[in-house]
Formats: sequence, structure tokens, C-alpha cells
Amino acid sequence: PIPVVLDVDTGVDDACALLLAALHPSLDLRAVTCVGGNAPVDAVLANTLTVLDAANRPDVPVARGAERPLLEEPVDARHVHGQDGMGDLDWPKSTRQPDPRHAVELLRDVLLEAAGGDQDGRVTLIPLAPLTNIALLLRSYPAVASGIREIVFMGGAAEVGNATASAEFNVFHDPEAAAIVLDACADLDIDVTMYGLDVFYAPRVGREVAKTLSAPGDRSAADLAGRLIAFQCERFGGEGATIGDAGAVCAVLEPAGVRRERLPVRVELAGTWSRGRTIVDRRDWTGDMTHDPHGQARSSIDVCLEVDAQRYATLWLDTVSGGLR
Ligand code: BDR
Ligand code: CA
Repeated sequence: PIPVVLDVDTGVDDACALLLAALHPSLDLRAVTCVGGNAPVDAVLANTLTVLDAANRPDVPVARGAERPLLEEPVDARHVHGQDGMGDLDWPKSTRQPDPRHAVELLRDVLLEAAGGDQDGRVTLIPLAPLTNIALLLRSYPAVASGIREIVFMGGAAEVGNATASAEFNVFHDPEAAAIVLDACADLDIDVTMYGLDVFYAPRVGREVAKTLSAPGDRSAADLAGRLIAFQCERFGGEGATIGDAGAVCAVLEPAGVRRERLPVRVELAGTWSRGRTIVDRRDWTGDMTHDPHGQARSSIDVCLEVDAQRYATLWLDTVSGGLR
């Protein structure tokens, strides 16, 4: 199995991603770290533990991380994800205790341990939330880089945004953190894939299929998965809902399901209407974004521009349904 760590702001679609990562036999989920984003970090922590309980994974350590962005006040997205951040479902809260370490310390320990092993043991880091924890990690403990196989993050967009017309929520929430992560990855030679809004909404599950998952009402992982989709259908109307963040986990499991281009990406930190936008340079000649102000070459990252939506929706459904369908 591929060793993975998720950094989340659970979050209805983070919950979908956690179920996939916790249940798929080809993934070895080593830890989950929490950050404030969709909801305040304590709600995120409680939701994350609840999802892992439903997946019967009490073995996975879960740690609390940054409460707020590096520079600005937090602006959550409970109008999208419900008051508790995870759909206000009628679902028992976990009584499990989190790991006593701060998220950044748990990440450090897991990644340094991987760095001491062989190449195959390196960890794929999957941030699905504002990048605050990851920025703090890479600047505080750069030696973790040799324990990272790659970073596949949900965030940004080559085209339009969602939090604002130009910025995607995770990057908009903490633009400085996103800029630091891209900068640190260039310095530390870490491969990065951006699974952004250009592909994020496409893999979807129908309302009727969701009903078959929830039918047993048995508080299983499948039951939770069905209710998460049903919540979104209710809230936004429509005959289906996106699996959202779970698509980034699919991109690790089945990389051929996305078309990527290697492109320079920077984060806009100023701008009246564009703060938090990821500027993706799609010009086909060498542009100013391929070098820093000192003339030093800056590496590009893989940007997901198209997704086989049916393939990823099926991968998610097959995994979370546990043979129910
Ligand atoms: C991202 O923002 C959050 O609302 C979702 O969980 C996802 O990570 C999409 O912009
Ligand atoms: Ca998220």
C-alpha cells in the first residue's frame, strides 16, 4: 500500500476523502492532521475522529493543528458545510482522544520516520484544507522533505474561484501559507500536484445512489457516506453531489484518471479582487514566472486540468459502499 497522510478541515467532502483513505486497501493511512478552515479546528477535530470511528480505524493518529491562518482572521464555510462543519447529521460524536502532539509535530514525526526508511516507504502528503499546518511544517522542519514522496493538494484553480470570483477557498483562507508551501517545495525539491477547482466538482454521485448507501441506517461507513451526499443534495438542490476532496485521494490511487500539465504557479498575495488566486502560467513560451527575481529557475508543479469523473466517482463508491451496491 501507498503510505499517505491527510491534512483536513472536515468538512463534508473531507469526510468523503477520509472514508476513501481509511478504507481503500491500497492506501496505508499513517496519520490525519486537522486545521481550521471549513469550521473551527475543534469542530474539525471532532468530525475527523467521528469519521474514522465510522470507518473502524481507531489505529490512525489524529492531531489538532493551526486554529487560524498565518496572517488574517479565520473565515469559515459553515454556510456550506453545516453548523458542525459536517452536515449536522444525526450521528454520534466520537469519544476517542486525539493524539497529544500538535499536528505539525505529528507530521514531523511520521515524515522523519519515513525519511529514515527506504524509498518505497516515503509518504504521499494529501492536504485538503488551508495550507497553514503544511507551511509551518516545511519551514520549521525542512528535513521532512526526504520522507515525502509527493504532495497532492486540493486547492487553487487555473480558471475561476469559489470563495471569490478568482480564488479557491483553501488558498483564499490562508494565501501566505499556500505561497510558503509552493516556495518551500521548490526549494526542497518536493513534487507537487494541484488538484484544484478545474477538476474538483466533476466527480459526482447521484441522489438515488446515495439513498442505497444509507438504506441500512446501521451507522456503517457506507451509511455515513450516503448521508454526506444526501446532505449536499438537500442543501444545494440537484440530483447529485460532488465527492470533492475525495477526488484528490483518487488522484493518488489512480493517477491516470487526471490529465496534468507541468506549469508555473504562484499565489496572489495582494490584489483588490484577486488575493488568494493561484496564477497559473499557461503561455507556451518561457515567461517571467519560471525564474525568481535573482534569475534562479523555479520549478513548476503538476496542475490537474481534466478528470475522468466517472472513474473517480466509481472508485469512491466502490470503496465506501463496502460491497453494498
Ligand atoms: C475546498 O474548500 C472546502 O470547502 C472543501 O472542503 C474543499 O477542500 C474547495 O474549495
Ligand atoms: Ca477541505
